[in-house]
Amino acid sequence: MIPVQEANTCVVGLQWGDEGKGKIVDYLAEHADVVVRYCGGANAGHSVQIGGQKYSTHLLPVGVLRPGKMNLIGNGVVLDPAALFKEIDDLLARGIVVTPENLRISYKTHLVMPYHMHEDAARETSAGGGIGTTRRGIGPTYADKMQRMTALRVGDLANEINLKAKIARVVEERNKVLKVLYDAPPLDWKDIFEKYRDFGRRMQPFIDDTTYLILQYAKAGKRIVFEGAHAALLDVDHGTYPYVTSSNCSALGVYTGAGVPPQIVQNFVGIMKAYCTRVGGGPFPTEQDNVTGAYIRERGNEYGTTTRRPRRCGWFDAMATRYSADLCGVSSIAVMLLDVLTGLNPLQICVGYKYRGKALPYFRADMDVLAEVEPVYESMPGWQGNISACRKFEELPREAQQYVKRLEKLVDVPIKMVSVGAERSATLMR
Ligand code: GDP
Ligand code: IMO
Ligand code: MG
Repeated sequence: MIPVQEANTCVVGLQWGDEGKGKIVDYLAEHADVVVRYCGGANAGHSVQIGGQKYSTHLLPVGVLRPGKMNLIGNGVVLDPAALFKEIDDLLARGIVVTPENLRISYKTHLVMPYHMHEDAARETSAGGGIGTTRRGIGPTYADKMQRMTALRVGDLANEINLKAKIARVVEERNKVLKVLYDAPPLDWKDIFEKYRDFGRRMQPFIDDTTYLILQYAKAGKRIVFEGAHAALLDVDHGTYPYVTSSNCSALGVYTGAGVPPQIVQNFVGIMKAYCTRVGGGPFPTEQDNVTGAYIRERGNEYGTTTRRPRRCGWFDAMATRYSADLCGVSSIAVMLLDVLTGLNPLQICVGYKYRGKALPYFRADMDVLAEVEPVYESMPGWQGNISACRKFEELPREAQQYVKRLEKLVDVPIKMVSVGAERSATLMR
């Protein structure tokens, strides 16, 4: 039996992604042995700034940036081998080495195939309009996972004869669908097979049973950080459906996605920005499509790590964030990008929603309701000056301290970390 592992932590986004999860996972990884990704795919983009150098990962856990850490890609991830190897090669060019010594991939992880990317893009541009996906083939890959007979997993790469037959069958079928629905030209199954056969050969030494590995690490007393991607409001069940991604990317997905029992992780750290952003379509009650939003976008460099799309920016939404914090059961929070708000005065915080003239008692992850809600704002005084050099909470301007304390009260979870700059060191502990 495995006793409760108190030292392990899962990091989860509490808004619509890009809260700065990468920075906090990197921070926690310093005192951990293993970092595990459990959901999503190359639609994620996690950036860490070390000594002025910015590193971005998409599929690899950010633990690869620290020597001597083991990194695992769990079964809940959907893996595009081309994206994985590009990431590994790009990091190598910058002196970061990823080998089976520091990376293992679950044999149960599903593969993103070229036709998934075609389907994702075709759906996005189809007459019905899209979700504003990253076009990385994420939705169609998870759909095939549930469909079962048309899916391919990392483990399938080992048997090249079976792989060939399966790719031939699935591509033939998929070409018909793509032609009828989107008038797309057919894909060559042989070409796809040869590519994936070669990917498989390169991937072989990385493939492992990650559940077994995690259990062994836990028994040996190793510390594990689970790296959430995306965020609670993008969770396929609990987010602002259908404007979500296709995985259980709130905290609730960690057990199935990493393939571990509940004893392995019971400590959840929520990550939230000091304001809100969103990329792609979907409701965003506190959006500021105006000079305030533009100010936040420029100061916060709010352009997608994966797609470079400008992110939609708006005020902090305590209704939405409290819902996520409750859902994920977080016991502490890191508030990120506080420095970005410097110079805005007054600051607004959404403390409630009005829906058809009445106050809503709680956030509702329902498109129709969210499209109609009117945010109720509370004003707070802003602050001036560069706060990125502060290393103690007490060094922050009084107004910045008050702002953080107000967020803490509204979300009802202790804010234990405050981030005041992208740099690894620009993190204050409370
Ligand atoms: P993730 O997807 O949650 O890991 O977040 P991203 O990496 O996509 O986006 C967060 C961005 O903000 C990255 O470019 C980080 O380098 C940057 N960042 C993180 N924390 C801070 C902060 O406190 N201040 C500023 N100015 N930038 C930050
Ligand atoms: P990280 O881990 C921000 C959004 C997309 C789109 C929707 C569906 O960096 O926080 P998909 O390609 O997943 O089918 O797109 O989800 N989205 C993200 N937005 N950060 C992310 O990840 C995201 N992952 C998906 O913009 O609206
Ligand atoms: Mg991101």
